[in-house]
Amino acid sequence: MIDESRVAGGALSLGGVAAEEVLAAVRRLRSADRPTHGGRLFAYVYDPAVPGLDDLAAAAHRESAHVNGLDPTAFPSLLAMENALVGAAGRVLGGGPGTAAPDVVGSVTSGGTESLILAVKTARDAHPEITAPRIVVPSTAHAAFAKAAHYLRVALDVVPVPVTTLRPDPAAMAAAIRPETVLVACSAPSYAHGVVDPVAEVAAVAADAGVRCHVDACFGGWTLPYLRRLGEPVPAFDFAVPGVTSISVDLHKYAYAPKGVSVLLHRNAALRAPQYFAYADWPGYTMINPVIASTRSGGPIAAAYATLRHIGDAGYLRLATVTRDAVASLADAVRAVDGLRLMAEPESTVVCFTAAEDGPDLFVLVDELTERGWHTQPQLSYAGLPASVHLTVTAAVAPRVAEFGPDLADAVAAARAAGPVRLPAELAALVGALTPEALTPELVVGLAAGLGLGAGSEPGTGPGPLPERMALVNTLLDAAPPALRERLLVEFVGLLQRPTWGSPG
Ligand SMILES: Cc1ncc(COP(=O)(O)O)c(C=O)c1O
Repeated sequence: MIDESRVAGGALSLGGVAAEEVLAAVRRLRSADRPTHGGRLFAYVYDPAVPGLDDLAAAAHRESAHVNGLDPTAFPSLLAMENALVGAAGRVLGGGPGTAAPDVVGSVTSGGTESLILAVKTARDAHPEITAPRIVVPSTAHAAFAKAAHYLRVALDVVPVPVTTLRPDPAAMAAAIRPETVLVACSAPSYAHGVVDPVAEVAAVAADAGVRCHVDACFGGWTLPYLRRLGEPVPAFDFAVPGVTSISVDLHKYAYAPKGVSVLLHRNAALRAPQYFAYADWPGYTMINPVIASTRSGGPIAAAYATLRHIGDAGYLRLATVTRDAVASLADAVRAVDGLRLMAEPESTVVCFTAAEDGPDLFVLVDELTERGWHTQPQLSYAGLPASVHLTVTAAVAPRVAEFGPDLADAVAAARAAGPVRLPAELAALVGALTPEALTPELVVGLAAGLGLGAGSEPGTGPGPLPERMALVNTLLDAAPPALRERLLVEFVGLLQRPTWGSPG
């Protein structure tokens, strides 16, 4: 039941749609989404399956939703909660009083991408004398580094990772450092395969060159320390490592906070200083922003604050235990099926597998798993790495793992029986001949129709509902080089993003 007095401001009704009706519309729209609870979704959503946590986070969010992070002096509650989140993150990542990094400072951002953009901006702006700054990242680094480089006009030097290790060779990282390099980055762990880069070695080569080193622990920063406490062989990756100058960790991932919260930490305030933007040269308020947004809702921060405190240290340890065991069971399930192989032995909370030579078509397998209620994430082949299937494993998966093995075996059998997807000859020829520059919106509409993505769509009207089975689409994208994949998907998403002129739902 809705408390109408809260929604409509007491007796005053403005004549809009009734609260219950609007919420019903939201629920109707939400019913088309992938299930965010239930432990069968292996990407996008991090669910600890802790009873009451959603309600607590929503209540905390509501308390602070209208608070503005623009001015910490006007809203000290937000400052206090942000400082608490930064302190908690710093502590989890090897900083704080009594550690090798007692002066760690940080900021709360809206997500991993913002944290990485700011890490790159901070490193760039620390060197105004470098006119053409560059950053060095392994090819497995998150795409947000490429976005940061693009937004900030910083050159991106990508160091390929060996297919055998899926992590960068420190010597190759060292060789990529140039006089204009302002930042070297690595992942703990990488998103795609869940492997931890050799942070100590990479940080050492960066320090030798006098360059900052950022550890992207957006994904694993809240689980690796707990896995280590459980006795897992987690290599050093945090502020205990000399040469690590900044670390990012997303609270909306494995700290299980609702979306919109990440923390960017620096080893000390001097390293953080270039992160700030200040502007007093206009007639309005002096703008001092530590992060990209200026006005910021207090809602996600309060929700994260409540989540961290409610789960607590012992709670996170327990959730890491459950998750580790789920990862082990899922990896066993993959090993038990002929025709599949793990891309890497799990080191964190990712299970990533590919097909053996004589294995099933992976994209068909993904569809078969979807049909059985398992939502996995296909990853396209890239630079010598085969296509793979990614599972982000969260605590909510644990009660379901026993069901996964039989369903996986069944799905593999069905994928084998169905056989591999064959691109129709005209589509294969088109992808072979297409260049990103030659791609027009009209061509994409035609292509989308050919793939069953809303046959008959006119330019500007967008595609219809997505097909149940995506193997054909994935096969087509897999056949395209990265630049063409980007163009195809930009055009396609552009088709999806069009205004609805009536009321939704
Ligand atoms: C390692 C890593 N870095 C950065 C990001 C980007 O985070 P966000 O999606 O919150 O912007 C992700 C997201 O999965 C990630 O796994």
